[in-house]
Amino acid sequence: MGTVMQTQTYLDMPASTDLDHIPGRYGWPLIGRTYEVVRELPALLDEHMSEYGPVSRIGFNFQRGLLVLHPDQFQEIFLDRGRNFSSTMGYSTSIGQFYNGALITQDFDVHRVQRHIFQRSFTIESLQGYIEMMNPIVRDSIEGWDEISDLRLLQHVRQMLLDIGARVFFGLDDLRGPEAAKMHKAFFDITQKGLMSLFKRDVPGFKFHAGLSGKRFLAEYYRSLIPLRRENPGRDLCSMLVTERDENGDYWPDDLLIPQLSLLQFAAHDTTTGALSHAMMYLAQAENQGLQERLRQISFGYDEDFLDIKQLRTLHEHERALQEALRFHPSVTLIPRRTVRECELGGYRVPAHTMLYLAPRWAQTSESWWTNPMAFDPNRFSESRQEQRNHRFAYVPFGGGAHKCIGMHFAFLAAKIVLHQLLRRYRFSLQEGYDCKCDMIPMPAPTKGLPMVAERL
Ligand code: HEM
Repeated sequence: MGTVMQTQTYLDMPASTDLDHIPGRYGWPLIGRTYEVVRELPALLDEHMSEYGPVSRIGFNFQRGLLVLHPDQFQEIFLDRGRNFSSTMGYSTSIGQFYNGALITQDFDVHRVQRHIFQRSFTIESLQGYIEMMNPIVRDSIEGWDEISDLRLLQHVRQMLLDIGARVFFGLDDLRGPEAAKMHKAFFDITQKGLMSLFKRDVPGFKFHAGLSGKRFLAEYYRSLIPLRRENPGRDLCSMLVTERDENGDYWPDDLLIPQLSLLQFAAHDTTTGALSHAMMYLAQAENQGLQERLRQISFGYDEDFLDIKQLRTLHEHERALQEALRFHPSVTLIPRRTVRECELGGYRVPAHTMLYLAPRWAQTSESWWTNPMAFDPNRFSESRQEQRNHRFAYVPFGGGAHKCIGMHFAFLAAKIVLHQLLRRYRFSLQEGYDCKCDMIPMPAPTKGLPMVAERL
């Protein structure tokens, strides 16, 4: 009974701002340091670490909270032995407004039960089915890139991964048909309008309204899809999810499944786009042409463009390039949580209901755990070096603990399919004068759409 009472209480409480006893800088009124997070994240993280330490107060996105930088605290928060850290409340003012009820926004026992629903979705057999759907989409998507005069790789990767999502997650056959177009529009309305909006009004004309309309559209669309996939299940992820049964042998309720289906494209798309396009950016740099060639030779070691799950798993060096890109550019730059009760973090008393922002990038580029951390050196992840093991939580682009990314293997497989096929088809270099930089919103990705030259082999 006590637990139930507590659970209800923390969900109803306003955020705490009683943080003045902790060093740090809130920044500007209201927006806090949001601009610097978006424009100069590495510098801001270095400043906080050197001036205020691993836990410091910060203003971000109209809220006050604590910036958390050290892997020791990541460990404490991700493992959360005392059930002190809420994802529901951490995400409540951001993606929770569009994906409430989805796995990533759930806490504790409810989260554990919901995660169970995905158990068949990521088995080896399911992944092999997804791979078979992905291979031809990638082949068709990358056709003719050498004929594009000003190739902006990012937009092609984005479209390819949207197509993959439509087919692999939802079983859509016609990737250019009206159904796919409406789904993609709703997705963009959420991610590029709703989530970016400053004024959170559900009134026509406001971006927030466009985002909520996208959410409502998708909910109805998935509601109509669920019976179709149950009647005639395919090998897509939606079919796996909606045919799962609870302990009584019944299907899970639609209202529980719909938010999970909505979350899939969001959780998978921009994150994988970022990892893949950053990896391509590094591989295309003049100083990494040798590495690019090495990966190509590994890919040419296979007879086929289409690999299966076993073969993809042997592409270790491709995977390391992706891991290294994610070390510099974790797709989720600030992982949010909110304290459920007063607790201690980094030696400070942290009040109940305090927002926490975990920033993987500082630890992922710190000399404390990485050799020559600013060098692009995928081999640091090799069997013989394994620098990611220097601290269990110094490398957390997929988070950790109960909420650790459920699609991590899927993401690596998808990205390796793309790398493998691309490198067998083209040699890549950056367009002259391109200055490799990163945009942070809506998610980290190379600037200017990543201008590239693809030379047909
Ligand atoms: C490179 C690609 C990806 C990155 C960097 C990434 C990153 C993350 C991170 C950091 C979290 C933890 C968030 C938190 O603790 O609050 C997470 C959770 C999640 N991811 Fe991923 N992700 C990627 C790809 C994917 C893909 C492809 C899928 C689906 C097929 C996916 C589905 C999810 C889901 C459902 C969760 C919530 C898990 C839970 O709360 O239990 N992700 N991801």
